Amino acid sequence: MLYGEENKAKLRSMTFGYGSKEKGSVIPRYRLNEESIDPDAAKGLIMNQLLDEGNSRLNMATFCQTYMEKQAVELMAETLDKNAIDKSEYPQVAELENRCVNILAHLWNAPKKSDYLGTSTVGSSEACMLAGMAMKFRWRNRARACGLDVNAKKPNLIMSAAYQVCWEKFCVYWDVELRVVPVTRSNMTLDLDTVMDYVDEYTIGIVGIMGTTYTGEYDDIKALNFLVDGYNKAHEGGHELVIHIDGASGGMFAPFTEPELEWDFRLEHVVSISTSGHKYGLTYPGVGWVVWRGKEYLPEELIFRVSYLGGEMPTMAINFSRSASQIVGQYYNFLRFGRQGYSHIHLKTREIAGLIADRIEHTGLFELYNTGSRMPIVCYRLKPNAQYRDGTKVVWNLYDLSDRLRMHGWQVPAYPLPDGAEEVTVQRIVCRADLTFNLAEAFVMDFRECLDDLKNAHVLCNEGKTGSYGFTH
Ligand SMILES: Cc1ncc(COP(=O)(O)O)c(C=O)c1O
Repeated sequence: MLYGEENKAKLRSMTFGYGSKEKGSVIPRYRLNEESIDPDAAKGLIMNQLLDEGNSRLNMATFCQTYMEKQAVELMAETLDKNAIDKSEYPQVAELENRCVNILAHLWNAPKKSDYLGTSTVGSSEACMLAGMAMKFRWRNRARACGLDVNAKKPNLIMSAAYQVCWEKFCVYWDVELRVVPVTRSNMTLDLDTVMDYVDEYTIGIVGIMGTTYTGEYDDIKALNFLVDGYNKAHEGGHELVIHIDGASGGMFAPFTEPELEWDFRLEHVVSISTSGHKYGLTYPGVGWVVWRGKEYLPEELIFRVSYLGGEMPTMAINFSRSASQIVGQYYNFLRFGRQGYSHIHLKTREIAGLIADRIEHTGLFELYNTGSRMPIVCYRLKPNAQYRDGTKVVWNLYDLSDRLRMHGWQVPAYPLPDGAEEVTVQRIVCRADLTFNLAEAFVMDFRECLDDLKNAHVLCNEGKTGSYGFTH
């Protein structure tokens, strides 16, 4: 964002294309223009502004959906005007949201007789905030009832160092201590040997991550549930430990690719699950979901009532007004693809990730952290003392490779691993449903070309240097 003096020079610099009616007009960039302009001219100016932006389909950094079918896009465009919070004016949107919550609860194996409940959100971040708040409020109510001085210490929340920044936000916003279990170079997931050392009576819960942002690996939730079970049995009638699953990416992937994997409500101590509909839920940003296994895990204080068809409906979102179109888009996907469609799409994406991983490994220059065998994420680092097959030493680093790939239009982030393994820099490729075999082949060819270019290029000053520029979590 530019402010003040620096800005002044730019104030008058918006220009119209040749032949336009407005040619010669001056439109300020950072002040509201006095007069209206023609809608086509306005669109043209904005399109020009966006021209040199990255192509979202070539963005291998994002988990967010970059393609939806034409019918879905039309449906979403036609429902942009509906406000999702206005349940009495748009009861059918509320019905579609309700169907989605039920579909997800079923997909996540909520116990048949449970009184599960959930909501749509703007994304996983809002969903994680809600789940975190529910854990905090429930812990406080129970701790008070057990006679614990809830003000003596800050409550705490435990997770692996491979957490996404939304959890840091949650802990700052809601005054909770973030207890981080370090990862190691050989284990980038929640360390089950040490996690219980972080637990005390002020622990509001443990977050299990299904698809860490850094490498895409799954925490072992079944083993975590076992540890939590032992703890709860030993503390019966007192402090109860609960698990929230941050399934931002895996929550809508694992049920279709590894339905037998137990990570969800089949495990007794998993009390809530959040996910991003705009990741492997295949919907454009931003939509997320959170589901609680039963009413008792979402304290009443967090539920608000809005009017709905002359009655009232519970809401528990942080945001209020937002367009219903993302909910409609999510429901379209559920309806259109069904279980088989999602499985087919995700398995194909995973196959493509495997192909890319295979080609990258074949170069002999990289050590792979994730070969896309579970989530379709390919994550690798440069081998120490890496050499090309002809013996040429590698003098570039992954940031240089990112830059090279960018010249071909591909965005592939390089970044250091989190606490405990921060000396390792990795690169990560997120494969999504719109990464076709042809596109993947094109990527692999460009990747190889970049390696050749770097071999012959004069890379200055980078040898041995690491840093955290370029990509943040
Ligand atoms: C594990 C995890 N949690 C939470 C989030 C936040 O998701 P959103 O962008 O939907 O808010 C992400 C995003 O990448 C994530 O990977």
